Amino acid sequence: MLRRYLDNAATSFPKPPGVLEAVTRYACELGASPGRGAYDEAKQAGLLFDECRERINTLINGEGPRHVVFTLNASDALNMAIRGIVHGADRTLGKPHVITTYMEHNSVLRPLNELVNRGDAEQTRIACDPVTGLVDPVDTRKAIRPNTALIAVVHGSNVTGTLQPVAEVGKIAQAHDIAFLVDAAQTLGHVPIDVRAMGIDLLAFPGHKGLLGPLGTGALYIRPGVEQRMATTREGGTGSVSDHDTQPTFMPDRFEPGSHNAPGIIGLSHGVKWILDQGVEKLWRHQRELIQIVIDRLTDMPGLTLFGPQGVEDRVGVFSIRIEGFDDPQALSDVLEKDFGLLTRSGIHCAPLAHQTIGTDQLGGTTRLSFGPFTSEADVLFVCDCLAHICQGHAARV
Ligand SMILES: Cc1ncc(COP(=O)(O)O)c(C=O)c1O
Repeated sequence: MLRRYLDNAATSFPKPPGVLEAVTRYACELGASPGRGAYDEAKQAGLLFDECRERINTLINGEGPRHVVFTLNASDALNMAIRGIVHGADRTLGKPHVITTYMEHNSVLRPLNELVNRGDAEQTRIACDPVTGLVDPVDTRKAIRPNTALIAVVHGSNVTGTLQPVAEVGKIAQAHDIAFLVDAAQTLGHVPIDVRAMGIDLLAFPGHKGLLGPLGTGALYIRPGVEQRMATTREGGTGSVSDHDTQPTFMPDRFEPGSHNAPGIIGLSHGVKWILDQGVEKLWRHQRELIQIVIDRLTDMPGLTLFGPQGVEDRVGVFSIRIEGFDDPQALSDVLEKDFGLLTRSGIHCAPLAHQTIGTDQLGGTTRLSFGPFTSEADVLFVCDCLAHICQGHAARV
């Protein structure tokens, strides 16, 4: 049976041509640690890093490749941003206050809770619409206090696919001179992102999802100047200014202590190259065609509940469903895998408050299907047929 991968929200698969080849070429021919030697192999590896930063900076219309800081994953980037801003904030205004939403992933909720529980920060979480999952930007404005240091919003929900109005929130943050962090874990590579036009100060993203790089990669874009408001969360060797025993202040070394995941970053560079070559607008159009099929076929399917925005607007290709007769969403994932070869993810998806918002937290969550650039129309039509078959089978039994 053909197996179809529908868990691109966890990590993307397959990777485009060029990624594996780049990893192998680095491992077989260079092997050196960038910035850690003056010999040619180390220099070449350093140039490949520069190329990766440049490609990412181009993709997001950033203000400088050196402001793309490599991290282990999106969680690492989010921690760096949240802790960096909280610990770097001006305390004369009181304890730093952070505004966030109910649709956030645990990679935002947990670091923030940790800071609040330790007495280092205050937080306000904005409730979102129980059907669409959308945040009202007006609510974020109303939550601003004199000591608000950060607004953090997830661009695309990993539960409902909801695409938040980040540009509107960005304008509000800019007007109040508050750092604005966007979690682009489910959007970068799928959806066009322009950090300048959207007023984004900090963009956190994985390299291994929409950017189509290997696992163990991610980055934080820090708008030039914003790094002055941030404390470092880790210090260590950078291969630069080695005669100093304090962390360098220049970018990206300030936030990149320790040896890098060079094979991963060099592979990631080719994932981003593939996206730039295709054009993110074209990938977004393809994704929206797939979304349209799902909306047309699933919205009124008897016995099936589709969560999140019920139209093609305001969403990405991440879908949460429940089907009558499957009290445990994992039971539905098991049937989809065993009977149809469809690989999905069920449960709470590390976003307990998003599930609370849509009312599925006490039900064990939902079954999630998530698309990538290699998901075809035929795949999605097949998925819809399988779900219709399951729903009809259940209706016939009751
Ligand atoms: C919205 C969102 N934020 C953050 C993360 C964390 O990403 P990573 O696994 O790269 O740390 C995920 C992962 O699924 C996510 O969906």
